[in-house]
Amino acid sequence: MSSQPIALDEMNPLLDLDQWDDFLEGRYKEGKTESEFRQYDAEATPGVAEFYRLNHQYQTHAYVLGKEKEYFGLTRGEKSIWEAAEFLNTLVDDSDPDTDLTQLEHLLQTSEAIRRDGHPRWMVATGFVHDLGKCLCLYGEPQWGVVGDTFPTGCAYDPAIVFPEYFQTNEDYNNPIFQTKYGIYEPNCGLDKVKLSFGHDGYIYEVMKNYLPMEALYMLRYHSFYAWHRHGAYDHLCNEQDRAMLPAVLKFNPYDLYSKGHTKPNLAELKPYYDDLFAEFFPAKLRW
Ligand SMILES: [Fe+2]
Ligand SMILES: [Fe+2]
Repeated sequence: MSSQPIALDEMNPLLDLDQWDDFLEGRYKEGKTESEFRQYDAEATPGVAEFYRLNHQYQTHAYVLGKEKEYFGLTRGEKSIWEAAEFLNTLVDDSDPDTDLTQLEHLLQTSEAIRRDGHPRWMVATGFVHDLGKCLCLYGEPQWGVVGDTFPTGCAYDPAIVFPEYFQTNEDYNNPIFQTKYGIYEPNCGLDKVKLSFGHDGYIYEVMKNYLPMEALYMLRYHSFYAWHRHGAYDHLCNEQDRAMLPAVLKFNPYDLYSKGHTKPNLAELKPYYDDLFAEFFPAKLRW
């Protein structure tokens, strides 16, 4: 398998994409306060702070519209789920190969944890596919355009978003229309109408939206929207459907945050189950 390490240039301050996931896990698992995890961040992982600085600076409303136009038409070819997972697996990092899991192993750990807890098959499938959108990195997108907490653009930034002060360098910050409570949106317009910052969540939702139930699609589309699902922000943009689906997003979140272990899943053993599972929900090839 070929490997394409992420360039450690100034636009990609994380060692690898997992560094963001690890930061999230630390932030929520240990119940750190805002000031505690900032300290943790500045001292232990300065790359994470720099990553959020870039994310908050460059994810403007115009940037989101441009990236949605670029990717949401799904013109990047057709792949099966396995092919997409293999493709994502070419995203390797420079960490210890003996203890670190591949992207595919991370996907399997998430889906296997969901399966062990007896959840429906569509949720197991959701666990497997939820981070396949990280292939955006392999299309050349910077880390800050692929991962990170997502947030609405075109309206005021809620202080519950991690590192809110970094928004001061976003050009939308000085646009008075974008900085009101509702911004360009109608009250309770529904999250479907809200342009969230661009990343792997929105992209995988577009790929999957014809194939999985609504609960699954909410899990995919909003799994990094922590300000909403963990902090209760932006309820004023939500409609009744969004509120009804929030418990599903919350049900999924622990599997995303905490299912990473260091036991490597046995792919050969698991493959027949997943072949059946994918055949149940997905066509042989999906558009990406
Ligand atoms: Fe994710
Ligand atoms: Fe994830």
